[in-house]
Amino acid sequence: MAALLRVALALTLCLAPAALAACPFAGLAASDGRRELMAMGGSAPAPCDVERLDLRNERTMLRSIPFQSQTAHAVKRVAWDVIYYGERSMSLPGVSSKACPITAALVRAAFHDAGTWNGTTKKGGPNGSLRFEITQVVNSDARMVLAAAYIDKWAEAINARLAAMAAQSNSKHGGPRIPVGTTISLADVTQLAGAAAITALGGLKRWELFDLIPLGRKDQGKADDVSGLPPPFFAFKDLACRFLGMGYTLQDLVALSGAHTVGFFETGIEQTGGHSNFWRPMDRTPYAFDTDYFQLVLNKRGAFTSDNTLLTNRKTAALVTKYARNRRAFLDAFAHAYLKMASMNAVWQPYK
Ligand code: HEM
Repeated sequence: MAALLRVALALTLCLAPAALAACPFAGLAASDGRRELMAMGGSAPAPCDVERLDLRNERTMLRSIPFQSQTAHAVKRVAWDVIYYGERSMSLPGVSSKACPITAALVRAAFHDAGTWNGTTKKGGPNGSLRFEITQVVNSDARMVLAAAYIDKWAEAINARLAAMAAQSNSKHGGPRIPVGTTISLADVTQLAGAAAITALGGLKRWELFDLIPLGRKDQGKADDVSGLPPPFFAFKDLACRFLGMGYTLQDLVALSGAHTVGFFETGIEQTGGHSNFWRPMDRTPYAFDTDYFQLVLNKRGAFTSDNTLLTNRKTAALVTKYARNRRAFLDAFAHAYLKMASMNAVWQPYK
């Protein structure tokens, strides 16, 4: 809470820049990165057989997704109204949402909640624990802190609406029947918010992603170990082994990396690991979920080593080329990988 207030206060002092180039907003003290670099997941994963694991993961089906009841569908409709329309007004304090929306940070938030999964310890996953990990350096940048605050706020708003609807349907005032006590988890809201953000940024349509995300994830209520989240300086082998170890395929890795087609990064983040709070766009169109990221990577001009390194492997390089040319192929692969990310290793408590 204190960290959140600190961010809000610092950012309120910034003047709202109208132009994209001015979106970098100074305010927070830069942190000493060297120590923090390791906390970002700097330790390399155990070496792996990339081709074998890729094949294994291609053949692995997602474990049981719970049946989606009428209640689950009704909850999702409420969630769309709250989140999607809420995203239109998302901005940094003191900065107009038009000049500098932080919608993209929600896509990253969805990955940072789900991407804590550790195949060895069998811990982590999409469990709504991001709010407890927001003080960790990998999550403590201003945009992520605010995204996590919006997720909390939306969960509260959805639950208030569900309570009102439950009271109403019990007194036979119409509307879908919502059982008393129905709530949505933070884990569900986090994955839905990332999907709605992709729609808001002109990517997959509501029915191509948001509507396909099953609900019923259980919240964990405490922090996960975030050291498994990949750092931006990873070269191919480490990056691939990290993702393959989590259950993704090389295609998932390339498609999910395509999320770097939206949003901003802080100057110096790869070199120091600390927060400069000076932001640069990820690609030439940071508000559009398009294929510009792949065009840049093809020219080795992606934001991070972890982006450009996708050109160093035959299979991933071919996928970069394909997605740069074919938007539909990228969107389909992204939807597939996002749905996997949102549900893989979730603990379920399905709606009745
Ligand atoms: C492949 C390994 C990945 C690495 C090494 C990586 C690293 C990073 C880093 C260092 C930043 C900038 C943070 C800052 O400057 O404070 C960033 C931003 C971002 N990442 Fe990733 N990321 C990876 C994968 C992903 C995935 C899988 C997603 C989502 C599916 C994602 C979505 C984003 C988005 C949307 C932003 C911009 C956030 C904003 O505008 O606030 N990243 N990433």
